[in-house]
Order: sequence, then structure tokens, then C-alpha cells
Amino acid sequence: MTQHLAARTAADSADALDWWRDAVIYQVYPRSFADGDGDGTGDLPGIRARLPYLAQLGVDAVWLSPFYASPQADGGYDVADYRAIDPVYGTLHDADALIRDAHGLGLRVIVDVVPNHSSDRHEWFRRALAEGPGSPLRARYHFRPGKGADGELPPNDWESIFGGPAWTRCPDGEWYLHLFAPEQPDFDWEHPAVADEFRSILRFWLDMGVDGFRVDVAHGLVKAAGLPDIGGTGQLGLLGNAAMPFFDQDGVHDIYRSWRRVLEEYPGRRIAVAEAWTPTVERTANYVRPDELHQAFNFQYLGTYWDAAELRPVIDASLAAMRPVGAPATWVLSNHDVTRHTTRFANPAGLGTQLRSAGDPVRGLRRARAATLLMLALPGSAYLYQGEELGLPDVTDLPDEVRQDPAFARGAGQDGFRDGCRVPIPWTVAGSSYGFGDGGSWLPQPAGWGELSVEAQTGDPGSTLELYRAALAVRRAHAALGAGDGVEWLPAPEGVLLFRRTSGDAAFVCAANTTGAPVRITVPAGRLLLSSAAGGVSGGESGGEVDLPADTTAWWSAEAG
Ligand code: GLC
Repeated sequence: MTQHLAARTAADSADALDWWRDAVIYQVYPRSFADGDGDGTGDLPGIRARLPYLAQLGVDAVWLSPFYASPQADGGYDVADYRAIDPVYGTLHDADALIRDAHGLGLRVIVDVVPNHSSDRHEWFRRALAEGPGSPLRARYHFRPGKGADGELPPNDWESIFGGPAWTRCPDGEWYLHLFAPEQPDFDWEHPAVADEFRSILRFWLDMGVDGFRVDVAHGLVKAAGLPDIGGTGQLGLLGNAAMPFFDQDGVHDIYRSWRRVLEEYPGRRIAVAEAWTPTVERTANYVRPDELHQAFNFQYLGTYWDAAELRPVIDASLAAMRPVGAPATWVLSNHDVTRHTTRFANPAGLGTQLRSAGDPVRGLRRARAATLLMLALPGSAYLYQGEELGLPDVTDLPDEVRQDPAFARGAGQDGFRDGCRVPIPWTVAGSSYGFGDGGSWLPQPAGWGELSVEAQTGDPGSTLELYRAALAVRRAHAALGAGDGVEWLPAPEGVLLFRRTSGDAAFVCAANTTGAPVRITVPAGRLLLSSAAGGVSGGESGGEVDLPADTTAWWSAEAG
């Protein structure tokens, strides 16, 4: 292991140390990516076998959602042992082999760390529960007596993100806090053992060779002193879009300063990306100050509809918020918690990110392809979610009885429909579970899934997969695409975003028509590189006057100046 790390470190030039600043990072949801042993659930050997596909796709890094020992009450975001692999996913040996193979293919590996809560099957929690009130082990979580004559009421009015009270009563009468499912008790980060344990967990995985961490619920670790009531309706709405005594407390930043010091103990550049839902991009920037984490997901961007008038201010605000702290902006359209963007854009604006309607899939795909080219043209780092390169829609009609999202059963929760974006992905046109594995799939795949498979799309120049491959290849080859922290807006008609980016002599122009009709625009002289329109952009090969089709993004290489 040491030798393997040393070899990689030697290869780390100054440039390579900045790999994360414009990296394209591909999220793998292990249950649903590839099933190596045919039990119907994806696993690490399955992912390992598909690494060449990811390398060929042209991404820089792979982020793996949790694969740790877990009762799977929340798809593995309920961790029982942070240093063990769940048997359903494989073994530590499989993780080691996966990390080595990925590095051999030039791919970095980012793993999820879940520090806000453990599983209720975690040894600390089980012992705390068994030892009863007064046990010092209870101080590692938030155990409290209830209110009311017999303590029969929860200690405060907080509600779980998944619906229902954020407190569950133990048989001995005390209550414990869980911002998510009852199977996910929140740690009390005031307790020094919690902080020590997580620094040790980080080192465990860094020693295994991982290149970084995605920090789950990074904004939730510290709760306001005294756990004050929220008051008001008690309804949370979307994660973190309002100030709450359990989110985005200033105390979280000390934790990330200490994590940064751990990351810097290691050779190469090890990074961390925050899942921090905050009310504003300025609050998000606090997580990526120079002595804290490296990146934060841009959920403001994810929540923005395919509409130039909405997109431009969010792009400007994102870039402006990151510039003072020197962190790259990030961009994301889909992940395992939201309706896939193909389906969001197939529906009218204003419906949010949890949808049950398939909408107009043709329009949705056209917009999704255009949205991807826009995202990949912006400065900074971009996150892709498995299957978006196939243009997969959300599966909006899963029968209730197969749904596994814990929020679905609890009702009134933030996001009860997350299974729709977690359906195992199709690799082949035919065969058991369309090549996902030999033993079916843990969520049913829709009829017709094979037509969207990697096999069906490979080599078809009009396919979404080939569009992603081409876009990522251009992004790698073209200096002006990776560099910089700003865009130069050019005059454009309503509904169109037109901007230039330059790096030295290289320049690049991107035009995105977010309207449902073709629009005539004027593009600086250049060479058409790529367009999201199935039929291409006629007449735009060298810039000038161009008729940009409806819901289309195109890229030109141009001269600087
Ligand atoms: C994050 C994860 C989500 C999970 C929750 C609780 O939001 O992305 O999938 O349910 O945290 O861990």
C-alpha cells in the first residue's frame, strides 16, 4: 500500500495537485451501478469491473456513495461500522482493489463520510441505549428527558427531514435526536470522542489511498446550544433553505479546519467536498475557506430551472461567492436525492426537485443535453450522477410496495421519491436486468430500459452517451475550458446565454438557447466544436450569424481577444 501511494505521489506534479479545481466527478450509487455477484444489488466488484467504462467516458474522479456496514435503513447513509464494508457490497479487499485499479486508470476516488449521525446499530449507540440514562456513552448522542408530566412529549419541536418528530423515545423513557430516520441517531459533536473518532476514520480511508471525501450533511453537525424550539409551523420544507438551530451553525467550521489539517498530513492532494445546504451561496462559501474544505456542492444551481433569466444570476452569484475564498465553483444537475434533471426539465418550472410526473420526455432530454453542455462550459468542477450520461429519466411510476426511500413511508418528509433516480442502470440491450447483473435488480427497471443502455448508445453519434464522451474529451483538450474563475458575458437575445472564456491564446464561446424556439445569435468567429442538438447547428461551423435550435447549447473554439 505504501509503495502504491509513493508511486502516485512521485507522479504528482504541481498541476496534478490542482486536479480537483476543474475535475469532473462522477457519482456512483453502489447499490444501483453494477452487480458483480448476481444478488440483485450492486457491489464493489461490479464497480471495479466497470472502471474502464468511466475512464473512457473521460471523468477525472469517482465519488462512491456509502458502501460501509449498514442495515440500509437509508440506503447506507446509516453507518454501523465506518471501517467495514457491508457484505452486500464486498470486502475491504475489494475496496483496496477498486482504489488501486482506479488509480491505475488515472481516476481519483472519493468516498462518502457520514458524520452527522450513525446507524442505531452502531456499537456506540447500541451500548448507550443498553446502559440507560446516566451512561457516559449517551453523551456521544443527543439523549434528553422528555417534556410533559411524565416526559411523554419530545424535548423540543424539531421535525425530521424525512417527516415526523426528530425525536424517538427509548423504552427507558429518555428521547434521542435524529434529524433523519429514527435509525439514524445524531452524534453530539460537543463530545471530544466524536471528533477524535472521525479524524481516525478519515485517516483509515486516507491510508487506504482515497483521494477525498464527500461530507454528508456537512451543515448539520453542530446544533444551537440548548436545542431551542423552532416555533412556527414546524414544517422544514427543503433542506436548509431557512435558518434553523440545527443547520449551518458557525461551530461546524472548527470541525472542518481540523479535518483540513488531517487531509494535509497526506501526500498528493486529498480533498473534501461539503454537502452543505445553506440559505445562500455566500453561506456555502464559508465551508470552502482556504483552511476548511475544498469544494461545496452548488445546490442553488441544481435547484435552478432551464431558463436563462434564472440561470445567469445564479452563475454570477456562485462565481462571485467563491472568488474571495479562492475555491472553485462547482456545478451539479443530478444526484441520488433528486429527480433526474431529464425529468425535471420535462415538467413545467416551479415544481421543485421531487417529481412524480414523467412530463414531456422528448423535451426533457433535449433540455437535459443542453443543460449538461452549459454546465460543462462553466469554470470550476462539475458533478455527474450515474446514468445521466445515458439521458436516463427518473422512474416516476414505481409501485408503492417496491419503494425503499425511508421518507416515503414517513410521509410529509422532504424527499419521499428518491427511489426514482436510484433504479439500477442499463448496460446492455437485453439480458437479465439489462446487464446490471445476473440476478435481477433491487428496484424494478422499466420496459424499454435496454434502449437506453450503454451498449445501445455506444457508437451512435446522436446518442447522449456519445455527447458526454465528446464533451468531456473537448473539455480536457481545450485550455480555456478548465481554467479561470469567471465568464465574459456577450450580448444575447432574451432566453439565450452567450459567454466567452479565455486562457492565454485560447478562447472558447458557449451559447445556450433555453427557449422553445430557434433563436438567431451572433457568435464571434470560431470553429464549432460541439452542439447538444440531435440535428447539429447548421450554418454555425465558423461562428458569425447562427440559428441556434430550441433548447440547445453549442460550443465554439475562438481566438482570444
Ligand atoms: C444526505 C444524503 C441522503 C441521506 C441524508 C441522510 O442528504 O445525500 O441520501 O438520506 O444525507 O444521511
